[in-house]
Amino acid sequence: MANLSLQTLLFIVLGVLGRVACLKEVSDRQCNCYLTNDTSKNYFTTHDFFDFRALSQYAKVSSPIADPYDSSDADETSNYFLDDHWTNAWGIQRWNNSDTVDSGDVPVLLVNSPNNIYIENNEDEDASSETFLTMRTLRYKDYQSAAEFESISKAYHFLSVRMYARTIGAPGAVTAMFTYRDDGDSTKLTSVQESDLEIRTMDPKDKVQYTNQPSYNAAGYDIPQSTRNATTPVQADWTQWSVHRMDWSPKNTTWYIDGRQVASIAFQVPRDPSQVIFNAWSDGGEWSGNMTIGSEAYLQIQWIEIVYNSTGDAKTTDKRNEDTALSLSNAKRDGEGCQNICSIDDTPTTGTPVLLQGAASKISDHILGLGVAYVWLPLLLATFLI
Ligand SMILES: *[C@@H]1O[C@H](CO)[C@@H](O)[C@H](O)[C@H]1NC(C)=O
Ligand SMILES: *[C@@H]1O[C@H](CO)[C@@H](O)[C@H](O)[C@H]1NC(C)=O
Ligand SMILES: *[C@@H]1O[C@H](CO)[C@@H](O)[C@H](O)[C@H]1NC(C)=O
Ligand SMILES: *[C@@H]1O[C@H](CO)[C@@H](O)[C@H](O)[C@H]1NC(C)=O
Ligand SMILES: *[C@@H]1O[C@H](CO)[C@@H](O)[C@H](O)[C@H]1NC(C)=O
Ligand SMILES: *[C@@H]1O[C@H](CO)[C@@H](O)[C@H](O)[C@H]1NC(C)=O
Repeated sequence: MANLSLQTLLFIVLGVLGRVACLKEVSDRQCNCYLTNDTSKNYFTTHDFFDFRALSQYAKVSSPIADPYDSSDADETSNYFLDDHWTNAWGIQRWNNSDTVDSGDVPVLLVNSPNNIYIENNEDEDASSETFLTMRTLRYKDYQSAAEFESISKAYHFLSVRMYARTIGAPGAVTAMFTYRDDGDSTKLTSVQESDLEIRTMDPKDKVQYTNQPSYNAAGYDIPQSTRNATTPVQADWTQWSVHRMDWSPKNTTWYIDGRQVASIAFQVPRDPSQVIFNAWSDGGEWSGNMTIGSEAYLQIQWIEIVYNSTGDAKTTDKRNEDTALSLSNAKRDGEGCQNICSIDDTPTTGTPVLLQGAASKISDHILGLGVAYVWLPLLLATFLI
């Protein structure tokens, strides 16, 4: 018995070692597609990574701008936000909600400002990065200064999006990461398709709200199936740095914190191609709460990582996908399907994919590939050692 359990233990330990040792870090050019470590076998065609952890050259907390018009017109806070890597993917917003304030729907004017999105030095004790990106929202007497960036592409069609982030600051704000599609008919609630992660700074620090919008119907009643008030894993309340992950699939949207599933909603899952949006805001209304004048709240992000599919002709909807789309369509034309399958989960280096299964040759896949890594190597070693 003792021998057997020792053997089992060795088997597991060596299995893990074998697996880590055998997965090779590669560049995205070498990946035709990506599998995630959820239970779905669907793969994604494209991978993007935005790393804000070592950007000291851009770090500067911008001084808040009191005038709402100047705030809306403000420049980007650093050249980082003018670089192609950023501007090809994300659009910093300047819109405001004066329409809904005028119509009496919400009490406070919200003005999005590029001035509220900046790179900041990480001054934590035992800091886990040099810098991070901050999205700030702050309350003036007459308005709420807010922050939002939206993906340039509106063609995301299923994805797994992750941010390593925390929310800190005063009650009365919302920070969010979500998919969004609006078919433009504002008379119909259902013209919006949206999967949300929302943190309300007035809520307990271990509660995060996840929703497939709309969360209420035309008569104003809540739709309980559309939303979850989830509890964070212990030690991962939303003020702590954690990986917040949202997987939007055809069947459900599923959310994870630090790799643990915290919610899944199969009701009202967005169907059509969408944008990805991040924001930090308040409008003084019932949902966001009403910030005290002079107070601030922040969504702080060390990195954002997405694997996704795009609809239509990827070459025209999204310039960045040209290489991947081309190599994938070449692979398909050859009748070989997805050849190089990569993972962004099993990698020791966040942001760098590892090759799960290569295309070198079908035979070597079986002899040298996953088979050895996961089963045969540890089995042989365990047998040898015992
Ligand atoms: C979500 O749907 C996928 C298929 O798209 C499935 O593999 C997965 O198990 C589902 N997750 C949950 C939590 O139901
Ligand atoms: C992504 O696109 C590929 C290629 O068209 C397809 O095989 C795969 O199932 C898609 N993944 C999802 C999650 O829809
Ligand atoms: C708010 O938006 C409206 C419509 O685009 C614009 O006319 C107005 O100047 C904006 N207000 C501020 C404070 O930026
Ligand atoms: C979630 O539940 C907590 C109580 O457990 C409550 O205080 C909080 O307001 C709820 N959040 C939402 C958005 O309903
Ligand atoms: C999936 O990968 C993430 C890292 O992206 C990890 O935190 C999590 O534990 C993994 N989950 C499973 C079930 O292996
Ligand atoms: C919101 O806060 C402002 C400023 O603190 C205050 O003047 C206003 O009465 C509050 N509104 C509500 C609805 O609580």
